[in-house]
Amino acid sequence: MLKTKDILDEKDKRLRLVSKEVVFPLSKEDKKQIKLMVEYLRNSQIEEKAEKYDLRPGMGMAAIQLGIAKRYITIVNEVDYEEETGKRTFETYVVINPKIISNSEEIIYVEMGEGCLSVNREVEGIVPRYARCTIEGYDVDGNKIRIRAREEVSIAFQHEIDHLDGILFVDKIDKKNPYKNKDKYRAI
Ligand code: NI
Repeated sequence: MLKTKDILDEKDKRLRLVSKEVVFPLSKEDKKQIKLMVEYLRNSQIEEKAEKYDLRPGMGMAAIQLGIAKRYITIVNEVDYEEETGKRTFETYVVINPKIISNSEEIIYVEMGEGCLSVNREVEGIVPRYARCTIEGYDVDGNKIRIRAREEVSIAFQHEIDHLDGILFVDKIDKKNPYKNKDKYRAI
């Protein structure tokens, strides 16, 4: 099981590497890492588990955040929670060699501020992101996949794909004016 301390902190230079394309078939080790990443993200979104295992809540993770400079990402999004039964439904995305092939004109940003498992501090400012985007890549078996993402999932894909190019969300905040063009974009 992954722990929060296994995730690289922003000071770690490996986060600045440009990750390498994955060649199929995936190694056993990579398959194992993907399972661990998904498990971490799911558990981190379940309060009792996050507390028990001391996990920082997160929605997405790129392999490089574990020090693996390969182009794969995982995103886990809670889509339903039944209060009576406590049943949670997650949608899980695992994409190998992901690429954004098209995007909306519309730009959005996370009003509360974007977060990252590698950035353990409060950050002022907004990160402009496409409201919708289409991602192409491969599943773990090497089948080509295409995903149409919107709203927070669209942001998560852009954020995670940036990691594969050594880019952190803090890099995308205007240094002089962290809330630049705020009124031109839609907050979510
Ligand atoms: Ni991140």
